[in-house]
Amino acid sequence: MSNMNSAIDLRSDTVTTPTAAMRQVMAGAEVGDDVLGDEPTVIKLQNKAAALLGKEASVYVPSGTMANLCGICSQTRHGDEIIAHNESHFYFYETGGFAAVAGCSVRFVPGRRGIFGPEVIEPNVRPMQIHYPRTSLLIIENTHNRGGGAVWKVDQVKAVCDQAHELGLRVHMDGARLLNACTAAGVEPSAYTRYVDSVSMCFSKGLGAPVGSVLASDEETIQTAHHFRKMLGGTMRQSGVIAAAAIYALENHVKRLADDHANAKEFARRIADVPGITLDLNDVETNMVFFDVDPKWGPAKKFSKRLEREGVRMFATGPQRLRAVFHLQVSAEQAVRAAEVIGQVLAQTPA
Ligand SMILES: Cc1ncc(COP(=O)(O)O)c(C=O)c1O
Repeated sequence: MSNMNSAIDLRSDTVTTPTAAMRQVMAGAEVGDDVLGDEPTVIKLQNKAAALLGKEASVYVPSGTMANLCGICSQTRHGDEIIAHNESHFYFYETGGFAAVAGCSVRFVPGRRGIFGPEVIEPNVRPMQIHYPRTSLLIIENTHNRGGGAVWKVDQVKAVCDQAHELGLRVHMDGARLLNACTAAGVEPSAYTRYVDSVSMCFSKGLGAPVGSVLASDEETIQTAHHFRKMLGGTMRQSGVIAAAAIYALENHVKRLADDHANAKEFARRIADVPGITLDLNDVETNMVFFDVDPKWGPAKKFSKRLEREGVRMFATGPQRLRAVFHLQVSAEQAVRAAEVIGQVLAQTPA
C-alpha cells in the first residue's frame, strides 16, 4: 500500500489544509470576543463577505451545514414546508436538521443534475387551506454537489426566484461552492445572489480555509440568524484566528479555482475513453468529476479500495459511481497521474 500522506486525495475539496502563508496570517490575526460582538477580524470577514455577495449583512458560522440551517430557521416557522431537489445537500447530508431543528418538511421537485425550471414550483406549493403545511422557502444549490458540480445559469436562477417570489416564497441558495459556479459561468457572485433572499458560502472547500462559512442576507434575516447561531452553539469567541484564514482565502484563492476546473476537465478527458468507464464530458463543469465503473470491475466501493492501494483516494457515491474532486492541493501532474492509475487498475483483470 502506498503511503497515505503522499496519496492523491480526491475525496473532496474539504480535505485541503491551510497553506504556510495562510497559517502565518492566522497567527497574526487581531482578535476579540465574537459573543460580545467585538471580534474585529470576524467583523471584517462578515463585511467583506456581505459586500462580495451583494447583501446587507452576513454572519460567520463554523460550517456550511450551520449556514444552511441558520438560513432555514430564519426564514421558516415550525410546520412549514420547503421546496427543493431531492439530491440537495441540506436534505441528503445534513442529518435532517431542517426537520429536527427547523421543524420543516420538504417537497421535492425533479431536475437533471439538481437544476430545475420555474414550472415545477407552483404545482408543489400547498394551497392556503387548513389541511396543509405552509410552503415558505425554496432552496437551490449552486454548484450542485450530487449533480456533479453542476452550474446554474444566471437566467435559470432568475426564473425560479421570480416564480418563487410571485408565489410568496423566499429563496435560499446553498452556495457552498458559489465561487466555483461564478468561475465557470464567468460572472460575479451578485449576478446570482441579487435574485435570492439568502445565500450560504463555504471557505473550507475549494478556497482552502480550515473551517468556516457565511450566511448572507438582509439585516433583519441576519439578526435572526445570529440568534439561531447562538442557539446551535456556533457563536465562537476569538474566532478571528479562523476568520483570518477565510479572508486570506478570499483574497488569494479565488482566481485559482479555474486551475481546479482545468485539472478536473483534463482528468475526465483522460479517463472518458478508458474501457469500463462511463462519463459525459459535458457534465464536467467545475472541480468535480462523477463517473461510473462497469460492474465487471466490481462495485464502486471495491474499485475505490483498489485505487487507494495505488495511492489515489476518491469516494464511491453510488453502487457503480465514483466522485473525484480537484482542489488547491492537487497539481496538474497529480490529476494526470490519477487518470493513469485508473487506466492501470482497469487494465487488470476485472473483479
Ligand atoms: C453543497 C454543500 N452544501 C453544504 C455543505 C456543508 O458544508 P460543511 O461540511 O461545512 O457543513 C457541503 C459540504 O460538502 C456541500 O457540498
